[in-house]
Amino acid sequence: MKKKILIMGIETSCDETAVSIIQDKGTKPPKILANIVSSQEKVHKKFGGVVPELAARSHLEKIEIITKKALIKSKVRLEDLDAISATAGPGLIVCLSVGFNFAKSLSLTLKKPLIAVNHLEGHALSPMFRNHIKFPYLLLLISGGHSQYLIVNGLGKYKRIGTTIDDALGEAFDKTAKILGFEFPGGSKIEEYAKKGDPSRFNLPKPIISRGGCNLSFAGLKTAVLRATKLVYTNKDKFDLAASFQKTITDIIYRKTKIAIEEFKKHSNGKVIVVAGGVAANREIRKTINQICSEVKFTAVFPEIKLCGDNAAMIALVGLKKFKNRKFDKPNFPVKPRWLLDKNAKFLKGSGVEL
Ligand code: KG4
Ligand code: ZN
Repeated sequence: MKKKILIMGIETSCDETAVSIIQDKGTKPPKILANIVSSQEKVHKKFGGVVPELAARSHLEKIEIITKKALIKSKVRLEDLDAISATAGPGLIVCLSVGFNFAKSLSLTLKKPLIAVNHLEGHALSPMFRNHIKFPYLLLLISGGHSQYLIVNGLGKYKRIGTTIDDALGEAFDKTAKILGFEFPGGSKIEEYAKKGDPSRFNLPKPIISRGGCNLSFAGLKTAVLRATKLVYTNKDKFDLAASFQKTITDIIYRKTKIAIEEFKKHSNGKVIVVAGGVAANREIRKTINQICSEVKFTAVFPEIKLCGDNAAMIALVGLKKFKNRKFDKPNFPVKPRWLLDKNAKFLKGSGVEL
């Protein structure tokens, strides 16, 4: 194998069109030569959420130009690439198809290997651009579509020990932001406005806090926020509710992460917890995890803030690791709107679910 490896990553699973080129010279960690992310915020803002057909159309319009930008930024020619990796799931099928089909045609035309990447695995490995992390580690994956505790035993080797039984954490942030009239996507707005509010003003519920192991639930919390808005008149009231919501979340994360660590210890002697996904950008959540780590003598590892949200560098990183293991995919590899990291994980969604 030649010394320098160049991998392209393509990400279109939801509302970001992203292309990245990374380089591995055998020295760790790999270098990000280009990481272009084009967000569709403006397209979806007026609808208050992602509209799949509009998202797919926007990916189609942007994918070529974003790819060109990544090539120019990295000063890499298409023919210099060693492999094309792209998100094949989970995500919106119409969106995944755009990026993955684009990757397939590049791979066929250039005669370079195609590598299908699980978007969640991209998040899981995203801190490895700055830290070398030894397997196994505990992962708290918190994004707009997923909230899970997983034991990461290696590339492609995951054991899920906890998951949300209803809304994802990012979804809870976004819905609360919408209720409070903050702009879409609201997660970061909640964090911003919570700084001006009183976190003890509203007493909000912490669903399944004393049962269900390290499984999570946020739907009841969102309903409670909706009810509490009856007491919201001024901007100060809004900031107080945002702060109370965020405090409730960090209390839930504190308790559930401690349970997850106990569970993790039964399976391994690792001492690292990684927090990844869009919500991992939240500084109060980072503080909470750091607090726990100082109590239980674990080390907390977070991706760089710019690599928390959806991006293609994390996809290229998984691509690189699979490339080194010669794990290539055929052109008939299907996109997978549902693609579990732990294929043995039980389906745990909806009311009445047994915990
Ligand atoms: O990982 P991501 O970019 O997309 C998915 O794969 O879902 O995560 C997006 C989610 C959104 O729900 C967004 O509101 C949330 O991450 N988010 C935040 C913050 N920044 C982004 N939530 C809380 N605090 C933040 N600072
Ligand atoms: Zn994501």
